[in-house]
Amino acid sequence: MNGLRKRMVVTGREGQVVTSLIERAALDSRFEVVAVGRPDFDLSNPGTIDAEIRATKPDVIVSAAAYTAVDQAETDEEAATVVNGTAAGAIAKTAASLGIPVVHISTDYVFDGSKMSPYVESDPVAPIGAYGRSKFAGELAVTEATANHAILRTAWVYSPFGNNFLKTMLRLAETRDSLKVVDDQIGNPTSALDIADAILVVAANLLNSGDPSLRGIFHMTGSGEGSWADFATEIFASSARCSGPSAAVGRIPSSAYPTPAKRPANSRLDCGLLEARHGVRLPDWKQSTVNTVERLARVQN
Ligand SMILES: NC(=O)c1ccc[n+]([C@@H]2O[C@H](COP(=O)([O-])OP(=O)(O)OC[C@H]3O[C@@H](n4cnc5c(N)ncnc54)[C@H](OP(=O)(O)O)[C@@H]3O)[C@@H](O)[C@H]2O)c1
Repeated sequence: MNGLRKRMVVTGREGQVVTSLIERAALDSRFEVVAVGRPDFDLSNPGTIDAEIRATKPDVIVSAAAYTAVDQAETDEEAATVVNGTAAGAIAKTAASLGIPVVHISTDYVFDGSKMSPYVESDPVAPIGAYGRSKFAGELAVTEATANHAILRTAWVYSPFGNNFLKTMLRLAETRDSLKVVDDQIGNPTSALDIADAILVVAANLLNSGDPSLRGIFHMTGSGEGSWADFATEIFASSARCSGPSAAVGRIPSSAYPTPAKRPANSRLDCGLLEARHGVRLPDWKQSTVNTVERLARVQN
């Protein structure tokens, strides 16, 4: 990469990952981030994508926007598939025709969760819900459109921004002393700010080198693992230390908390390949949880 800042065009305006990228890139001399989003850039209308992206003159594209309403997707699969599948492919096609790399964000929900250990990239995908199927369609479309891609599968994303499990727990604890939280789904809680740091490294690597081993699918989650109940317990312990809301966590099975979409019991992703190829390892989820809760507490006080 030369001394000039490269233009990173990111899809989405107010999502967790795009907001985190804007914040982190401002501290980084390598990139200027341009966010493209609704209403002028709408993934529901894939035919408009090429012109909108070209107008931004990107050096690299980060495809971070998605239809992320996992339960709603069960009754709205067509719309989810247009946004997460067709539009993802259209973005990658534009990247291919511009001769630039695309970093595409995908999900642990492409797996069915039946494996007893963390998933590696070569494990067969078998989504058990509409959202997972739509995101898998996106992976296929990106792979078909261009070899110059890094598909980064992440999971259980939280941040000080937007809507996420961490913020929901803190909000509920303002009015309740105890909360029942699912304890039989295990995964890797992942800070969107840590994702942003990793994307900046991966994007720089793709721009600096044509090495095919930097391209393909990579798992990218916070280090360490836990259940939703473990995550909630950590959130409340951190919050209590800064005199914020906290609640006792009652551990329940998924069967006691039915949702329209089934979630994988095992969502854990092995991130060894990302570390080996890109030199990136995300921090421990517990430390990033503390950082996020403390930051939210500072805003409150
Ligand atoms: N959240 C998770 O737990 C999780 C887990 C695994 C993987 N992922 C993946 O990580 C990526 C980032 O997720 P996130 O947590 O940042 O999502 P998020 O906070 O739910 O934000 C979604 C973003 O997508 C944009 N978007 C949705 N529909 C759109 C459309 N039709 N046209 C244009 N933009 C649209 C939203 O736009 P507005 O700004 O206009 O609202 C928003 O910026 C996604 O690819 C997601 O599938 C997320």
